[in-house]
Amino acid sequence: MASAPLLPGLIRRLEGKVALITGGASGIGESTAKLFAQHGAKVVIADVQDALGASVCEAIGSNSSFLHCDVTDEAQVKNAVDETAAAFGKLDVMFNNAGVSDPKKARIIDNQKADFERVLSVNVTGVFLGIKHAASVMVPARAGSIISTASVSSRIGGAASHAYCASKHAVLGLTRNAAVELGQFGIRVNCLSPYALLTPLAVEFAGRSRDRFEAVSESRGNLKGRRLRADDVANAALYLASDEAQYVSGHNLVVDGGFTVVNPSLNMFQYPNES
Ligand SMILES: NC(=O)c1ccc[n+]([C@@H]2O[C@H](COP(=O)([O-])OP(=O)(O)OC[C@H]3O[C@@H](n4cnc5c(N)ncnc54)[C@H](O)[C@@H]3O)[C@@H](O)[C@H]2O)c1
Repeated sequence: MASAPLLPGLIRRLEGKVALITGGASGIGESTAKLFAQHGAKVVIADVQDALGASVCEAIGSNSSFLHCDVTDEAQVKNAVDETAAAFGKLDVMFNNAGVSDPKKARIIDNQKADFERVLSVNVTGVFLGIKHAASVMVPARAGSIISTASVSSRIGGAASHAYCASKHAVLGLTRNAAVELGQFGIRVNCLSPYALLTPLAVEFAGRSRDRFEAVSESRGNLKGRRLRADDVANAALYLASDEAQYVSGHNLVVDGGFTVVNPSLNMFQYPNES
């Protein structure tokens, strides 16, 4: 089944572009792959979940393909970038989106070093390798947009585990450093920082049912009456990937409904009759 066409009158914002999306088999990556394809991009999904990745490509149609790629393995990341560039002659957009979390534990003394290192390996080393190998084909082309998925945990503490928070701060650091280095070649480097949304990663970390997860996320969120969806994050990625963001680089695009600017202890704007 091909991906849904755009509504009449809407402009295809990635016409002719080639995008590689890690972690594209599920959640934010899956939504982004579908949206990019609707906007005219050729999309390559790179993930460790082969069957799921292939099924997303089947849903998108002929403008997509799947590559097995563990982002912690440099040879596999290099292969994904090189295969994409060889198949389509270029790489316009690299979306470093694959990520994992570790088990939720309240005390650092209960955290295992192996879990900490696994999270950093996927969330930080994976992003580093994605930026590195995307740069190797984008620098000669003197163009490109590199996007990585960070999190509200790139801005605040206490929203996730130590490993996850450290990893997402590192994604922001890598984004800023790479934006400085690669700006001289016209390459833009940005990251996205979503609030909590219902995906396998988040539900597993929270250890709650899907309904409970959504209820808790909504009650803790700042923007009431709405729930963050993968499509909302995909739309932010679409902006950063498109030429509309042609002068945006080194930016952390926060998609959190204002969550990270609130200090709930101040309680400044409580309306009299609202609980
Ligand atoms: N869901 C949330 O609440 C939330 C909030 C903020 C940021 N994020 C970030 O969004 C990104 C996408 O996560 P999601 O929420 O869509 O979860 P998800 O579990 O739906 O998707 C994550 C994808 O990454 C893939 N992956 C994991 N390890 C990999 C590896 N070593 N190599 C290649 N692929 C690998 C998984 O197979 C999966 O398809 C992650 O970086 C995550 O940290 C999620």
